[in-house]
Amino acid sequence: MAVQSRSPVLETRSDGGNADTTLVPVFEDSGKKAIPPKGAYSGLVERLRKGDTFSGKGGTVQFLRFGGKGPSDNVAFVGFGHAPNLTDEKARSFGGSAWTKLVSEKCRTVAVDVDALLDAKGLKAEPARIVRAFAEGLGLGAYRFTRFKSARADDPFGPLRLVFFSRDRARRTRLEASLATVVAELRAIEITRDWSNLPSNVGTPEHFARGARRLARDYGLRCRILGAAEARREQMRLFLAVGRGSVREGKIVVLEYAPKGVRKAQKAKTIALVGKGVTFDSGGISIKPALRMEDMKHDMTGAATVMGTMLLASAWKVPNRLVAVLAFTENMPDGDAVQPGNVIVSRSGKTVEIVNTDAEGRLILADALDFAQGYRPDAVIDVATLTGAVSIALGKICGGILGNDDALVDAVRRSADSHGERLWQLPLFDEYFDDMKSDVADMKNTANDGYGGTIRGAIFLKQFIRKGIPWAHLDIAATAYNVSHLSYLPKKGASGAFVRTLAQFAADY
Ligand code: BES
Ligand code: MN
Ligand code: ZN
Repeated sequence: MAVQSRSPVLETRSDGGNADTTLVPVFEDSGKKAIPPKGAYSGLVERLRKGDTFSGKGGTVQFLRFGGKGPSDNVAFVGFGHAPNLTDEKARSFGGSAWTKLVSEKCRTVAVDVDALLDAKGLKAEPARIVRAFAEGLGLGAYRFTRFKSARADDPFGPLRLVFFSRDRARRTRLEASLATVVAELRAIEITRDWSNLPSNVGTPEHFARGARRLARDYGLRCRILGAAEARREQMRLFLAVGRGSVREGKIVVLEYAPKGVRKAQKAKTIALVGKGVTFDSGGISIKPALRMEDMKHDMTGAATVMGTMLLASAWKVPNRLVAVLAFTENMPDGDAVQPGNVIVSRSGKTVEIVNTDAEGRLILADALDFAQGYRPDAVIDVATLTGAVSIALGKICGGILGNDDALVDAVRRSADSHGERLWQLPLFDEYFDDMKSDVADMKNTANDGYGGTIRGAIFLKQFIRKGIPWAHLDIAATAYNVSHLSYLPKKGASGAFVRTLAQFAADY
């Protein structure tokens, strides 16, 4: 798939090169005044400090045009707050704020003074993580979905190059390694966001299957695609039932990653990742109201997140084996669409009475999870924009996580924490399933009463998890798009959340 938006090039140098702008991190002293950095800009900061114009408060940016002195015409002083209080999430957030300013000032090449950041006295956080997080914040902020905007030469997109410079050779070597890690993240997350943002007239199951095949080739992943005929052979009738109202054929994409090297491969665990890929969710016969129905183009973000995770994990060369199952289909009303009250036999053999065709994600995931467990995974994680209820329960500040194994849930949460991404666990008491029993089948797909929607979605999925397999479910319906509280995420459209979390999990499990 063509790259529809672009991240700036990140590079390491011993000087700022020919940048138009130098970015200088500035810390705040205990009296809440800016600490002048060593070198060319100390005088300028001294004046700002005296005039109380700029205190170095975290996330503030003082932009001086033709501030001269250093390697470039302009200088952006970026406040990093009190050094002992700096965390990597703060650095990420400052990166996002800085990026916004650099865009509005029409900067093109920005030289980041890494020494001004790392020479700060009293830093408690690990220096390598701070620089990495700051670069992430700059890079993650640098996303726009421009594919359907007619080109405008005067539309400033933002810096094209970020030069991280340090006069210290050893520092530069470490810097290069961590920037490579960040570049891999940005590339993977860009794909997740592009996929999620694609309107469903372009982002069809066929389109994503083709895109996945191409990316798999680029990243050295195995890729297999199941169309309707193969899905039928696999007895994935729930998956097929959801797609019956659509003229577009559903596709199941199976991706595999294996770590290189025999010893690694022996110790390697197998992790199965399953993604909900509903390319458009109209609700089907249980049709949704018109208001914001257009957002349902994002209903494949679970699959897009798993795709991004596979790309990032393989770029990072994680030591575990990964299997991804992306279940793409459309949920549409039609003369042949599945109807409320229909009973379908799942791949696992359990029967489901579909009482609400809008609870379709769990149906396709039930079959996809069963299929994925055929790979005998040591852990299964599914990712889905499953319920509107998760935004009622948790708002847009964190994603929901549920599962049958607390050690697994904790491990995923630890990975999330280490990247500033948030997951909050909800309970899965068996009694939540009581109201989902059906008079005619083994279960209904919803209790249809509006209570505990996220938990009900998860406990439905749990019915398809085989004995002894640790499983976790991420409900990302609230965090998948329009996340506005973080400086480094796009305020509108896809967030790309949890790609870093899941790749980190794949690295550490
Ligand atoms: N795709 C939706 C969930 C969703 C809602 C995602 C809003 C993002 C924003 C899902 O398929 C759905 O419709 N869920 C229903 C379940 C209900 C019918 C039991 C819901 O949340 O209302
Ligand atoms: Mn739905
Ligand atoms: Zn849906």
